[in-house]
Amino acid sequence: MQDQQRRDFLKKGSFFGASMIAASAMSLVPGSANASGKKENENSRKQTRTLGSGSHAIEVAYGMGLGCMGMSWNRSFVPDRKAMIGVIRKAYEMGVNLFDTAEAYGPYVNEELVGEAIKPFRKNITLCSKFGFEIRDNKLTGAFNSKPKHIREVVEQSLKRLQTDHIDLLYQHRVDPAVPIEDVAGTVKDLIREGKVKHFGLSEAGSENIRKAHAIQPLTAIQTELSLLSREPLTEIFPVCEELGIGFVPYSPLSRAYLTGYINERTTYVPGNDNRITLPRYQRDAVIANWKIIDVLTTFGNQRGLTAAQIALAWLMAQKPWVVPIPGTTKLAHLQENLWSTDVAFSAEEWKQFNDQIAAVTIVGARYPTPQTK
Ligand SMILES: NC(=O)c1ccc[n+]([C@@H]2O[C@H](COP(=O)([O-])OP(=O)(O)OC[C@H]3O[C@@H](n4cnc5c(N)ncnc54)[C@H](OP(=O)(O)O)[C@@H]3O)[C@@H](O)[C@H]2O)c1
Repeated sequence: MQDQQRRDFLKKGSFFGASMIAASAMSLVPGSANASGKKENENSRKQTRTLGSGSHAIEVAYGMGLGCMGMSWNRSFVPDRKAMIGVIRKAYEMGVNLFDTAEAYGPYVNEELVGEAIKPFRKNITLCSKFGFEIRDNKLTGAFNSKPKHIREVVEQSLKRLQTDHIDLLYQHRVDPAVPIEDVAGTVKDLIREGKVKHFGLSEAGSENIRKAHAIQPLTAIQTELSLLSREPLTEIFPVCEELGIGFVPYSPLSRAYLTGYINERTTYVPGNDNRITLPRYQRDAVIANWKIIDVLTTFGNQRGLTAAQIALAWLMAQKPWVVPIPGTTKLAHLQENLWSTDVAFSAEEWKQFNDQIAAVTIVGARYPTPQTK
C-alpha cells in the first residue's frame, strides 16, 4: 500500500474512532433530535463506511451489510423463497448496498436466490461471494479446494447463478493448506484483470497469510467471526488490518442469534440444516453459562431503549471505523432493528463500563470444534 494511502486510512480511522466514542448513545437513538435540535431523517442516518483503501476501497451504506446465508441454509428453518426475495429487495429500498453469499451456502441455492433478488438493482450494490470448498453431488465434502483451476471454475458458475458478469468482492472462504496463498491471490488478481472480480477478500485467514496475499493482490476485507462471544480478532487480526488498510467484516456478529437473547437451553436445531448442532458454544451448558453476557446486554439496552442485538452490533461498530458487520436475518423487523444500531454510539464512560462488565464474564465453549483461522 502506498504511504499516502496508509496515512489517509489511519487518519480517517482515528477521527471516526474518537467521534464514535464521544457521542452519547441517547442522543443518537433513531428519530431523536441531534445536538443542534434538528430531527434526523432516513437519509442522514445512512452514513457510510469504507472497506479497504485506495483503489481497493468499497463504500458500504450504513456501514452494515446483509448476510443472506440463513435465507436458505444452516439456520434450521428455510423460509419461503419469494418472501426472502422480498426481504432482499426491501433491504435495498431501505438503503442497504452490500449483500453477502457464497457458493457453499446450500450449496448453490443461496447464490441463486441472491442473484434473482438483486437483478433489478445489480449495478448499484456490492455483491460478495466466496469460493474454497470441495462440493460433490451437491454436498460439501468437508475438504477445501482453492486450486487455481477450481477457483476459476467456481467463479464462472457463481457468475451464472448470480446472473451477473462480475463479483464485487470475492473471498477465499477458508485458507487451503494445500495451495500456497500466493497462488490463490495470483488467481484472483488475474480474475480482477479480466473484469470478472472487482475486489479480493479472505475469510478466517491468519495474519501471516493476510500479509502474503496482500503483497500479491491488495485485500479489501477480511471476513472472520467476531462478536462479543468471539473477540480474538481484535488482538490477533485488527493490528494487521490497520497497518495494511484492510477492512474487517465480522460474520455471525450476533453469534448466530445467541446475542439477541432468542436462544436458550430449550432451543432445538434442525439436523442437517444448522451448524449450531455441532458447535460447542450452542450446547446446553455453554448456552446457560454464557447467559451472563445477555444479562449485561439487556440491562445496558433497557436503560437506553435499545435491544440486546442493537448493543451487540453497536459494540462491534465502535471498535474501528473500518468494521462492517453483516448480520443475517429473514425478517424485515429484525433488519430494521439491526440497521438502527448503526446510529448507536457509546460515551467514553459507557464504553468503559460496558467493556468492564463483558471482560468479567468467562466465555464457555469453543466457537468451532476445530480451529478455523489459518
Ligand atoms: N465467512 C464465513 O465463514 C461465514 C460463516 C457464517 C456466516 N457468514 C456470513 O455472515 C452472515 C451472518 O452470520 P450468521 O447468520 O451465521 O449469524 P448472525 O448474523 O450472528 O445471526 C443470524 C441469526 O440471528 C437472528 N437475528 C438477526 N437479527 C436479529 C434480531 N434483531 N433479533 C433477533 N434475532 C435476530 C436471525 O434470525 P431471524 O432470521 O429470525 O432474524 C438468525 O438466526 C451470513 O448470512 C453469511 O453471509 C460467513
